[in-house]
Amino acid sequence: MQYYDLYRKYHALGEERRWCLEKDVAWADIDPALANRDLLQPIKIAALVESFSYQNCARFFQAHRHLPWLIGWKVMNLYEENRHHYAMLRYSEAIGLPIEEREIVAIQHGYQNSADLQDSVWAGADLLEELVLAWISEIETAVWYRLAGRHVGEPVGTRLFGLISADEFFHAAYYHEVIARMIAEDPEARFARIATLISRYGKDDRDDHYGVVIGRDVFAEVRNTMARLGAADEIRQIVKSRLGAWQGLVAAPGV
Ligand SMILES: [Fe+2]
Ligand SMILES: [Fe+2]
Repeated sequence: MQYYDLYRKYHALGEERRWCLEKDVAWADIDPALANRDLLQPIKIAALVESFSYQNCARFFQAHRHLPWLIGWKVMNLYEENRHHYAMLRYSEAIGLPIEEREIVAIQHGYQNSADLQDSVWAGADLLEELVLAWISEIETAVWYRLAGRHVGEPVGTRLFGLISADEFFHAAYYHEVIARMIAEDPEARFARIATLISRYGKDDRDDHYGVVIGRDVFAEVRNTMARLGAADEIRQIVKSRLGAWQGLVAAPGV
């Protein structure tokens, strides 16, 4: 399947599965007294982190505007990430931790100046590497929101995080297929690059650049909560298993 055909496939799937923020989430029924207090701060931070897409999509549109299959996808993707940001902002407010507009603006400035764009694994990444990193981010958020939904304790939040997590798994599925397609064009060399990148990613201290943007103590608290719920282990297992699937393409080139 060619890249533009993959975009058509995922555009159709996206239209079929898209939920409605006003109708599918019972905002009026949210009961803040039921919400797990340990998750208040992590939910607020998750809402802010979703707005990182304002920055990274702007850069992505600039860098890849000659690839319609990718820009078309990214437009869909940005629309959905923005809804995640806005839905979680509303939810955070409803359970007692409002988010000020100035905090969202500050996040944009912080992200632009962060190591994320300068000296982390993202700097200098080519398209294949960039897509692998985007795929990992989707897996991370998918797992994290699935766990947040299970542990938030407040039924509207459980529903909302389930919907958002499913979106993130959908986003990851697109990147997974595109990456498999790219590997099939030059299996050994491309798989080797991906394997190297993923091993670097495992060692990269990403908390440093998130810490710069969000505040080190705040982000450490979020990481600890995620780890306590088992997110890190689950993410590692999924990445390892998908890497194994890509390795299978080297054994059977042209698949
Ligand atoms: Fe998202
Ligand atoms: Fe996503």
